[in-house]
Amino acid sequence: PLYKIMFGLSELEERIRKYYGLKQVVIVAGDSENSLHSKRELGRAGCAVLRKVMGKDDVVAVTGGSTIAQVANQLTSQTPLKGNWFVPARGGLGESLDYQANTIASTMAKRTGAQYRMLHVPDHLGEEAYTSLMQEPNVREIVEVIRKARIVIHGIGDAMVMARRRRVDATVIEAMKAEGALAESFGYYFDRKGAVVHKMLTAGLRLEDIMETEVVIAIAGGQDKAEAIAAVMRFGHDDVLVTDEAAAMELAAIM
Ligand code: F6P
Repeated sequence: PLYKIMFGLSELEERIRKYYGLKQVVIVAGDSENSLHSKRELGRAGCAVLRKVMGKDDVVAVTGGSTIAQVANQLTSQTPLKGNWFVPARGGLGESLDYQANTIASTMAKRTGAQYRMLHVPDHLGEEAYTSLMQEPNVREIVEVIRKARIVIHGIGDAMVMARRRRVDATVIEAMKAEGALAESFGYYFDRKGAVVHKMLTAGLRLEDIMETEVVIAIAGGQDKAEAIAAVMRFGHDDVLVTDEAAAMELAAIM
């Protein structure tokens, strides 16, 4: 509506880029929440960004979710990307098989002739189980590879939507709500200001690793995700945002 009339998509990209201090913003047409075509476009745009930043021997850490799955299903390479590795950013986060980071990492590798490693860590680990699992040489080894990732590509979700999708305990959900949880990404829940209010106990990238990662690419669209996207952008460690028109217009409205 108003923003559509006032600005073209490229102006909108530039405004959002500047406002959040990003290196690049890509906006695809439409609303990926209500249109499969637009969601595929989001994935396609994500592929283009990823292929451009990938070098010869990179480790790329990927998160799960239906949006990153759209990237995985469309990623291609004319020559095999033999020296590159795709790894899951974090362990089990309560996603169904198709949307798990392990599945997405292996799909990306198979489609591009790259290598991949999986991280087999179950969801809902207790503190004790987590600590002993982290002492397993196999787990430690892959976690070390993950933490060396030069590129991270991740989805963003609404905190409450994600907590429910993961069947998080009702009491935990209430506590998160009270703390103002708005967004979820890589197993961390963020408030409006981009501060972490809750995290899931699982192996892989920690927030401090993400802060150090050279290239962090976020992919998320749909009007309902705008506040969540804004919260993660305020956290402030993304370099590239790939989004859709619906989310971008709402982002501009709350800027
Ligand atoms: O669970 C993995 C994850 O990337 C979350 O961190 C994120 O909130 C969610 O998936 C996004 O999922 P979707 O793209 O399906 O909305």
